[in-house]
Amino acid sequence: MEVVIVPDAAAGGELIAEAMAQLLRRKPDALLGVATGSTPLPIYQALTAKVRAGAVDTSRARIAQLDEYVGLPAEHPESYRSVLRREVLEPLGIGIDAFLGPDGAAEDVRAACQAYDAELARAGGVDLQLLGIGTDGHIGFNEPCSSLASRTRIKTLTEQTRVDNARFFDGDIAQVPHHVITQGIGTILEARHLVLLATGEGKADAVAATVEGPVAAVCPASALQLHPHATVVVDEAAASKLKHADYFRYTFVNKPEWQGI
Ligand code: F6R
Repeated sequence: MEVVIVPDAAAGGELIAEAMAQLLRRKPDALLGVATGSTPLPIYQALTAKVRAGAVDTSRARIAQLDEYVGLPAEHPESYRSVLRREVLEPLGIGIDAFLGPDGAAEDVRAACQAYDAELARAGGVDLQLLGIGTDGHIGFNEPCSSLASRTRIKTLTEQTRVDNARFFDGDIAQVPHHVITQGIGTILEARHLVLLATGEGKADAVAATVEGPVAAVCPASALQLHPHATVVVDEAAASKLKHADYFRYTFVNKPEWQGI
């Protein structure tokens, strides 16, 4: 995998937004897989700035959701559908008809999960999937010990993830749902390019396990090692526990041909 160490979150956001812009210039109707949480916000801000500057056209872009809470109505402000509307669709001027996501309020959750995997396949697959990482190494909401071949399904959040996400629910863990629908690790690995952004010291252990640890279900993000085109962008703090940081810096700067990520 390619590891890129950037000075800070804003630089990571800019680098990744530029990769998305380049993809959209090549393929205007690209299917972009997006994540929620705090980490990707600098990416969305940088991409929005490019759209406003006329440097990229998102009018034909399509957006696919990575995960969703179960039991929150779609219109709840913290449902990931609402969050993505606010943070991605509206700023980028992309309509809801170009949005693919699982139905977190479905009566039959299992059927909704299967339907979502089928919808992604019908749409031609995800071209570029953005990922954050949990402090416990989760991607999407594939918590530790998730099958590395898993498909979209319902998962139970760990206590740690619910504590981490309570900040989006007025700091009240009781309001954080216990269950989510998440693309499985096998589903995520089908995207053509995986781009994980991690920022801050709190992610340093998870990043080291992802990049330098064994491929193991105990760290779901380590499955990125199996992907032919996976890029991990980390700021200095998130890179602080990497033993090979100097090598990663050296390889990125000395790429034979500069093409971004
Ligand atoms: C959310 C998601 C999660 C987050 C992760 C990190 O859609 O897929 O894996 O990326 O929990 O969250 P932040 O960025 O808030 O630290």
